[in-house]
Amino acid sequence: MNRRRFISMAMGTLAIARPALAAPARIEVYKSPTCGCCSAWVEHMARAGFAVDAQDIDQEALNALKARSGITPDLASCHTALVDGFVVEGHVPASDVERLLAERPDAIGLSVPGMPIGSPGMEMGNQRDAFDALLVMGDGSTRVFQRHA
Ligand code: CU
Ligand code: CU
Repeated sequence: MNRRRFISMAMGTLAIARPALAAPARIEVYKSPTCGCCSAWVEHMARAGFAVDAQDIDQEALNALKARSGITPDLASCHTALVDGFVVEGHVPASDVERLLAERPDAIGLSVPGMPIGSPGMEMGNQRDAFDALLVMGDGSTRVFQRHA
């Protein structure tokens, strides 16, 4: 179920809709201009109902943004996104971002380090790597937020 559909269902069934669900979450995506998988992830997020503002920046600026956002090199992927006070690094599934925004844990955000084959935007036929979306804590530690087999 995509986010938009969820919202319209929630509006239909709840007497009072939560304001947080009234508008699609706005997500800023910073990526290098030549990255095809980044664009594919942007499309994945837009299809899920996010209002995506994608910006191309050079690699140096991107690395600086990652560092500033608490994304260490071992957690890094290609693009870096900012949504509602959280950072989302790499090919994180939209469903995980939705859960992050719903639960709002005391954390920096989510990362899928590297670029696992089969993650959203990294589709290659039937190939799929198992991967974890990691919750990145303020002290730089991580815990598994969601396993993707
Ligand atoms: Cu990528
Ligand atoms: Cu990317």
